[in-house]
Amino acid sequence: MHLVTLIPGDGIGPEITQSVVDIFAAAQVPVQWETHNAGETALAESGSLLPQPLYDSLERTKVGLKGPVTTPVGKGFKSVNITLRQKYDLYQNVRPAKTTPGINTRFEGIDLVLFRENTEGLYAGLEVYDERLGIADSISRVTVEGCRKICQAAFAFASKHGRKHVTMAHKGNILKNAGKLMLEAAREAAAQYPEVTFYDDRIIDNMCMQLVGKPEQFDVIVTTNLFGDILSDLCAGLVGGLGVVSGANIGDNMAIFEAVHGSAPDIAGQGKANPTALLRSALMMLEHLGEKEHATRIEKALNETFLHKEQCTGDLGGKASTKEFTQFIIDKL
Ligand code: NAI
Repeated sequence: MHLVTLIPGDGIGPEITQSVVDIFAAAQVPVQWETHNAGETALAESGSLLPQPLYDSLERTKVGLKGPVTTPVGKGFKSVNITLRQKYDLYQNVRPAKTTPGINTRFEGIDLVLFRENTEGLYAGLEVYDERLGIADSISRVTVEGCRKICQAAFAFASKHGRKHVTMAHKGNILKNAGKLMLEAAREAAAQYPEVTFYDDRIIDNMCMQLVGKPEQFDVIVTTNLFGDILSDLCAGLVGGLGVVSGANIGDNMAIFEAVHGSAPDIAGQGKANPTALLRSALMMLEHLGEKEHATRIEKALNETFLHKEQCTGDLGGKASTKEFTQFIIDKL
């Protein structure tokens, strides 16, 4: 039995985490949940966005499944996600994007995995505001170590999964130093993994254009934090939207799995949310825990459900509620 910290989160978080809990129970997945909240719900309950019992649980289980959380804006709170990623050095943000039969998209044959550096860049939290001069400095800090770690992770993943092509996206023509560190780190990793036969780099603006023009040419993409944040939503749009793309925050000692999307306050509590993104994140978690068979079985039931449009949620063109969609998956297990 694997002990996992479950963070339901805010907005649609509780609805979609319940869906995963129900599907795992029906599939008899050997996972036991320790539930702790974070974000606005936790703030209202306990006066803290990240209560101590949540940290204690994560440090015990080393694995988390997290719903989206809302960080109150303009009230001086540090983002819950950034806090967790930095505290536990979850330096890899891994976001697969793949076309799936039944989900309408403009392109066919997309199967890529984005590696986003998760702790540095503009997310390092280095901001200075000089009120007198009206100047805000947001410092984007990248380090040799950070660039090395994310590039190594991307190439190691490509090698392990038989993927032959890694593309590094950067802005080295303008951000000369940061770009140089990433270019050197990627070249160093490429030399260490000769079985990954094709390495190239692209300037980020060109990368966006190439992705919306011919996305099937990409395999593994590695980049810094903010570029990765933007590219991953772009990739989500290519394969069916935010409701279907999964993600993982991985460090050397802990991993927290979560959907790419946010707490979707516009549809919260209405039974409209698509739980697929969180479910797919949970399936990544099962692979991480060595439970590939369970992951494959649930994925098969999910993929069969996509083939019946009327069984899908509204974002996929269907009419089913979150609960009905969940039940259709359970019926196919
Ligand atoms: P969002 O991802 O919550 O929503 C964007 C649009 O996508 C909305 O129209 C929403 O209804 C739709 N959408 C998102 N997930 C969906 C799902 N599972 N099924 C169907 N439709 C879905 O982004 P937004 O509105 O920019 O952010 C809302 C809040 O979420 C903010 O407070 C933000 O800080 C937070 N957020 C949290 C994240 C996390 O905890 N990992 C990540 C991104 C944003």
